[in-house]
Amino acid sequence: KRIVILISGRGSNMEAIVKRCAAESWPAQVVAVIANRPAAKGLEFAAAHGITTAVVDHRQHGVRADFDAALAACIDGFAPDLIVLAGFMRILGEPFVQRYAGRLLNIHPSLLPAFPGLHTHRSAIDAGCKLAGATVHFVTTQLDHGPIVMQSVVPVRPEDDEAALSARVLATEHVIYPLAVRWFVEDRLLLDDRGRVRHRDGA
Ligand code: GRF
Repeated sequence: KRIVILISGRGSNMEAIVKRCAAESWPAQVVAVIANRPAAKGLEFAAAHGITTAVVDHRQHGVRADFDAALAACIDGFAPDLIVLAGFMRILGEPFVQRYAGRLLNIHPSLLPAFPGLHTHRSAIDAGCKLAGATVHFVTTQLDHGPIVMQSVVPVRPEDDEAALSARVLATEHVIYPLAVRWFVEDRLLLDDRGRVRHRDGA
Protein backbone atom coordinates (compact mmCIF):
# COMPACT_ATOMS: atom_id res chain seq x y z
CA LYS A 1 0.00 0.00 0.00
CA ARG A 2 1.17 3.48 -0.80
CA ILE A 3 0.74 6.16 1.85
CA VAL A 4 0.97 9.92 1.35
CA ILE A 5 1.12 12.06 4.49
CA LEU A 6 0.10 15.73 4.54
CA ILE A 7 1.59 18.03 7.17
CA SER A 8 1.70 21.72 8.02
CA GLY A 9 4.29 21.91 10.76
CA ARG A 10 6.20 19.80 13.26
CA GLY A 11 5.13 16.47 11.83
CA SER A 12 5.52 14.36 14.94
CA ASN A 13 2.55 12.18 13.99
CA MET A 14 4.04 11.68 10.53
CA GLU A 15 7.30 10.72 12.19
CA ALA A 16 5.55 8.18 14.42
CA ILE A 17 3.85 6.61 11.39
CA VAL A 18 7.08 6.46 9.34
CA LYS A 19 8.96 4.84 12.22
CA ARG A 20 6.31 2.25 13.01
CA CYS A 21 5.83 1.41 9.34
CA ALA A 22 9.51 0.53 9.12
CA ALA A 23 9.87 -1.08 12.55
CA GLU A 24 6.81 -3.30 12.14
CA SER A 25 7.31 -4.03 8.42
CA TRP A 26 3.83 -2.97 7.38
CA PRO A 27 2.73 -4.01 3.89
CA ALA A 28 3.05 -0.34 3.05
CA GLN A 29 5.40 2.48 2.31
CA VAL A 30 5.21 6.19 2.97
CA VAL A 31 5.85 7.34 -0.59
CA ALA A 32 5.62 11.08 -0.01
CA VAL A 33 5.22 13.77 2.61
CA ILE A 34 3.53 16.90 1.30
CA ALA A 35 3.36 20.21 3.18
CA ASN A 36 1.37 23.36 2.51
CA ARG A 37 4.17 25.44 4.01
CA PRO A 38 7.77 25.38 2.81
CA ALA A 39 8.97 25.89 6.39
CA ALA A 40 7.11 22.85 7.80
CA LYS A 41 9.61 21.27 10.19
CA GLY A 42 8.53 17.73 9.43
CA LEU A 43 9.86 17.97 5.88
CA GLU A 44 13.39 17.68 7.25
CA PHE A 45 12.70 14.39 9.00
CA ALA A 46 11.01 12.98 5.90
CA ALA A 47 13.85 13.98 3.60
CA ALA A 48 16.43 12.62 6.04
CA HIS A 49 14.62 9.29 5.88
CA GLY A 50 14.71 9.13 2.11
CA ILE A 51 11.05 9.99 1.64
CA THR A 52 10.09 12.20 -1.28
CA THR A 53 8.86 15.58 -0.09
CA ALA A 54 6.80 18.20 -1.86
CA VAL A 55 5.34 21.59 -1.02
CA VAL A 56 2.04 22.91 -2.32
CA ASP A 57 2.03 26.38 -0.85
CA HIS A 58 -1.48 27.60 -0.10
CA ARG A 59 -0.30 31.21 -0.29
CA GLN A 60 0.36 30.77 -4.00
CA HIS A 61 -3.22 29.82 -4.71
CA GLY A 62 -5.83 32.53 -4.43
CA VAL A 63 -8.94 30.52 -3.79
CA ARG A 64 -9.34 27.25 -1.95
CA ALA A 65 -10.52 25.36 -5.02
CA ASP A 66 -7.25 26.16 -6.80
CA PHE A 67 -5.18 25.06 -3.84
CA ASP A 68 -7.20 21.87 -3.47
CA ALA A 69 -6.77 21.10 -7.17
CA ALA A 70 -3.01 21.67 -7.03
CA LEU A 71 -2.76 19.52 -3.92
CA ALA A 72 -4.81 16.73 -5.49
CA ALA A 73 -2.62 16.81 -8.61
CA CYS A 74 0.47 16.51 -6.43
CA ILE A 75 -1.03 13.68 -4.38
CA ASP A 76 -2.21 11.77 -7.45
CA GLY A 77 1.32 11.83 -8.84
CA PHE A 78 2.20 9.42 -6.03
CA ALA A 79 -0.80 7.13 -6.68
CA PRO A 80 -1.56 6.58 -3.00
CA ASP A 81 -3.96 4.06 -1.50
CA LEU A 82 -4.24 6.16 1.65
CA ILE A 83 -3.87 9.85 2.41
CA VAL A 84 -3.06 10.71 6.02
CA LEU A 85 -3.65 14.20 7.38
CA ALA A 86 -1.15 14.68 10.21
CA GLY A 87 -1.39 18.15 11.65
CA PHE A 88 -2.51 19.46 8.27
CA MET A 89 -4.02 22.83 9.04
CA ARG A 90 -5.96 23.65 5.87
CA ILE A 91 -9.64 22.98 5.44
CA LEU A 92 -10.23 20.88 2.35
CA GLY A 93 -13.21 21.46 0.08
CA GLU A 94 -15.91 19.00 -0.86
CA PRO A 95 -14.54 17.90 -4.27
CA PHE A 96 -11.20 17.09 -2.63
CA VAL A 97 -12.79 15.14 0.19
CA GLN A 98 -15.09 13.24 -2.20
CA ARG A 99 -12.17 12.35 -4.45
CA TYR A 100 -10.45 10.51 -1.60
CA ALA A 101 -13.55 9.23 0.19
CA GLY A 102 -12.78 6.16 2.27
CA ARG A 103 -9.01 6.62 2.03
CA LEU A 104 -8.51 9.93 3.82
CA LEU A 105 -7.73 9.84 7.56
CA ASN A 106 -7.27 12.64 10.07
CA ILE A 107 -6.31 12.91 13.71
CA HIS A 108 -7.89 15.52 15.93
CA PRO A 109 -6.72 16.32 19.47
CA SER A 110 -10.05 15.95 21.25
CA LEU A 111 -12.62 13.30 22.00
CA LEU A 112 -14.86 14.05 19.03
CA PRO A 113 -17.64 14.99 18.68
CA ALA A 114 -16.56 17.27 21.55
CA PHE A 115 -14.43 20.25 20.60
CA PRO A 116 -14.01 20.26 16.84
CA GLY A 117 -11.87 23.07 15.47
CA LEU A 118 -8.96 24.82 17.14
CA HIS A 119 -7.87 25.28 20.78
CA THR A 120 -9.20 21.92 21.87
CA HIS A 121 -7.08 21.65 25.01
CA ARG A 122 -7.97 25.14 26.19
CA SER A 123 -11.63 24.31 25.60
CA ALA A 124 -11.43 21.03 27.50
CA ILE A 125 -9.76 22.71 30.47
CA ASP A 126 -12.20 25.62 30.45
CA ALA A 127 -15.14 23.22 30.31
CA GLY A 128 -13.83 21.41 33.38
CA CYS A 129 -13.47 18.11 31.54
CA LYS A 130 -11.90 15.35 33.59
CA LEU A 131 -10.97 13.39 30.47
CA ALA A 132 -9.47 14.46 27.16
CA GLY A 133 -7.95 12.59 24.26
CA ALA A 134 -7.56 12.25 20.54
CA THR A 135 -9.62 10.85 17.69
CA VAL A 136 -8.64 9.22 14.41
CA HIS A 137 -11.44 9.52 11.89
CA PHE A 138 -12.22 9.25 8.22
CA VAL A 139 -12.55 12.69 6.71
CA THR A 140 -15.91 13.82 5.45
CA THR A 141 -17.01 17.21 4.20
CA GLN A 142 -17.86 18.39 7.70
CA LEU A 143 -14.78 19.66 9.56
CA ASP A 144 -13.58 17.35 12.35
CA HIS A 145 -16.50 15.02 11.84
CA GLY A 146 -16.60 11.74 10.02
CA PRO A 147 -16.64 8.11 11.06
CA ILE A 148 -14.48 7.49 14.12
CA VAL A 149 -11.80 4.82 13.80
CA MET A 150 -10.07 5.03 17.17
CA GLN A 151 -9.82 7.23 20.25
CA SER A 152 -7.39 7.62 23.11
CA VAL A 153 -8.30 8.95 26.54
CA VAL A 154 -6.13 10.73 29.10
CA PRO A 155 -6.97 12.40 32.41
CA VAL A 156 -7.14 16.16 32.72
CA ARG A 157 -5.29 17.00 35.92
CA PRO A 158 -6.23 19.97 38.12
CA GLU A 159 -2.86 21.61 37.59
CA ASP A 160 -2.89 21.18 33.80
CA ASP A 161 -2.31 24.11 31.51
CA GLU A 162 -2.76 23.85 27.75
CA ALA A 163 0.84 22.77 27.19
CA ALA A 164 0.73 19.99 29.77
CA LEU A 165 -2.54 18.58 28.48
CA SER A 166 -1.44 18.91 24.88
CA ALA A 167 1.75 16.95 25.57
CA ARG A 168 -0.19 14.18 27.33
CA VAL A 169 -2.65 13.90 24.45
CA LEU A 170 0.07 14.07 21.79
CA ALA A 171 1.88 11.11 23.31
CA THR A 172 -1.28 9.05 22.78
CA GLU A 173 -1.71 10.37 19.23
CA HIS A 174 1.63 8.78 18.45
CA VAL A 175 0.20 5.46 19.58
CA ILE A 176 -3.24 5.43 18.00
CA TYR A 177 -2.49 7.07 14.67
CA PRO A 178 0.13 4.52 13.58
CA LEU A 179 -2.19 1.75 14.78
CA ALA A 180 -5.12 3.06 12.77
CA VAL A 181 -2.96 3.46 9.66
CA ARG A 182 -1.61 -0.04 10.15
CA TRP A 183 -5.13 -1.44 10.30
CA PHE A 184 -5.98 0.37 7.08
CA VAL A 185 -2.95 -0.86 5.14
CA GLU A 186 -3.57 -4.38 6.39
CA ASP A 187 -7.12 -4.15 5.02
CA ARG A 188 -8.57 -4.58 8.48
CA LEU A 189 -10.41 -1.30 8.36
CA LEU A 190 -12.94 -0.05 5.89
CA LEU A 191 -15.87 2.25 5.42
CA ASP A 192 -19.03 0.47 4.42
CA ASP A 193 -21.43 1.94 1.90
CA ARG A 194 -23.39 3.58 4.70
CA GLY A 195 -20.29 5.39 5.85
CA ARG A 196 -19.70 3.30 8.94
CA VAL A 197 -16.32 2.01 10.07
CA ARG A 198 -15.97 -1.77 9.84
CA HIS A 199 -13.20 -3.90 11.27
CA ARG A 200 -12.21 -7.17 9.67
CA ASP A 201 -10.94 -10.19 11.62
CA GLY A 202 -8.16 -9.56 14.04
CA ALA A 203 -8.74 -5.83 14.35
C1 GRF B 1 -1.64 17.21 16.62
O1 GRF B 1 -2.04 17.48 17.93
C2 GRF B 1 -2.83 16.89 15.77
O2 GRF B 1 -3.81 16.17 16.42
C3 GRF B 1 -3.33 18.26 15.43
O3 GRF B 1 -2.18 19.03 15.24
C4 GRF B 1 -1.09 18.46 15.94
C5 GRF B 1 -0.04 18.15 14.95
O4 GRF B 1 1.16 17.77 15.52
N1 GRF B 1 -4.26 18.23 14.34
P1 GRF B 1 2.32 17.15 14.62
O5 GRF B 1 2.55 18.11 13.45
O6 GRF B 1 1.89 15.80 14.15
O7 GRF B 1 3.52 17.11 15.50
